[in-house]
Amino acid sequence: MSDNRSQERKKHYISHKESREIAKENSQKIRYFEKRKKRRVKPEEYVTEMKDDKNLVEFDDLHTFFFSDAGTVKAVNGVTFSVPAGSTVGVVGESGCGKSVTSLSLMQLVQAPSGQIVSGSIRFRADMFKLDSRGRKIPVYESEVDENGVEKFKLDARGRKIIKKNELGGNTYEMVTEVVDIAKMPTEAMRTIRGREISMIFQEPMTSLNPVFTIGNQLDEVGKLHIQGISKARVKERSIEMLKLVGIADPEGVYKKYPHELSGGMRQRVMIAIALLCNPKLIVADEPTTALDVTIQAQILDLLREIKGKINGSIMLITHDLGVVAEMADYVVVMYAGKVIEMGTAEDIFDRPLHPYTIGLQKSKPTVDQTADSLYCIPGFVPNPINMPNYCYFRDRCERCKAECSGDYPEFIQVTPTHKVACYLYKDGESAKEEKNG
Ligand SMILES: Nc1ncnc2c1ncn2[C@@H]1O[C@H](COP(=O)(O)OP(=O)(O)OP(=O)(O)O)[C@@H](O)[C@H]1O
Ligand code: SF4
Ligand SMILES: [Mg+2]
Repeated sequence: MSDNRSQERKKHYISHKESREIAKENSQKIRYFEKRKKRRVKPEEYVTEMKDDKNLVEFDDLHTFFFSDAGTVKAVNGVTFSVPAGSTVGVVGESGCGKSVTSLSLMQLVQAPSGQIVSGSIRFRADMFKLDSRGRKIPVYESEVDENGVEKFKLDARGRKIIKKNELGGNTYEMVTEVVDIAKMPTEAMRTIRGREISMIFQEPMTSLNPVFTIGNQLDEVGKLHIQGISKARVKERSIEMLKLVGIADPEGVYKKYPHELSGGMRQRVMIAIALLCNPKLIVADEPTTALDVTIQAQILDLLREIKGKINGSIMLITHDLGVVAEMADYVVVMYAGKVIEMGTAEDIFDRPLHPYTIGLQKSKPTVDQTADSLYCIPGFVPNPINMPNYCYFRDRCERCKAECSGDYPEFIQVTPTHKVACYLYKDGESAKEEKNG
């Protein structure tokens, strides 16, 4: 009896020897991935093609791991989904399922050196700067047609060509639209995309804003960094314009304030203003309303929806709040333990959920037309991300589990042209309706 107990206890501990082996293995792997990131990569190695031209982003079998002292955490373990241009995609799932790590992988912001994109692709349609043979950006100059009908460059007082200004007040450079694989892109090239083409709104604005700089300083810094050639006066004007756009009543006053002088809702509006400064094509919003009360939450969601229309971009909205997704998203991706387990249009997921986990999530949501003593709770826990089983990760919590479920991890099954699920229940074409009623 005591032998059993000591064996059970040992299962949860790592011996000194095991720990040394893990550390040695980790350092080898980390060295390999860090070296790979630093080597010179030619554009041909990361310029690629989209599987579907309608998409702005395509995650393809993405694996992002953390090499921790306790073992390898498979935070994102083969994630595949896409963000169609001009749409809002909601990513849902319980805490720790890999939502943030997926979005951080897209921004190349995974906490290195322990966190690394191990394999897979993140394809993104980007407007990249065209480079000359010496790797420099190619400016577009102002020109005019003279009296003989010949086009000539305009010159400034010192006889130099004048670079044309773009709509943001910065220099215009020759651009080219290319599909790039962010998972293979060198850090230097990624810097030209991050903030300009893709921007991110984090969950807690107080930790994202620097407490010792004014809101104006922080907005201007982003403008100066990403809009080359912008003047000091224009950058301030743009910052105030953005504060106005996100519904701040006194933008000039807020521009001079420090983050602690603003309310939570206002700070989140500032974060959105920073994200919008360079007219990005994609906004990644990681739980943008979790730290806010319900009325402010509704205002921020309205604002995001309104802004999406104005900038004609896409939003990847990460949340564990199904209500937020139902209100905002065109498409929904449900994640569980580092994998996508179901995806479809918002109607597919809300009206016809298929995976027992998605059905459980729906059941655990409070509704006004239903009286219950206690809310439904999905039994059990998410498996330990360090030792994931080979079978369906939801098996030990699943009330509908059958013999097949102990076999290999279930493949995706295309139930309708828009709706996919990774579950053995649908292998033989069992209908969604039967499942729900079952
Ligand atoms: N820096 C890190 N080091 C080690 N493990 C990490 C690190 N960051 C995240 N993880 C692990 O990766 C997994 C996924 O984390 P992630 O932050 O993506 O979850 P999430 O779905 O965003 O959860 P939440 O809803 O709580 O924000 C978790 O198991 C987490 O413990
Ligand atoms: S594959 Fe089996 S265990 Fe996994 S969710 Fe479907 S029914 Fe449940
Ligand atoms: Mg998160």
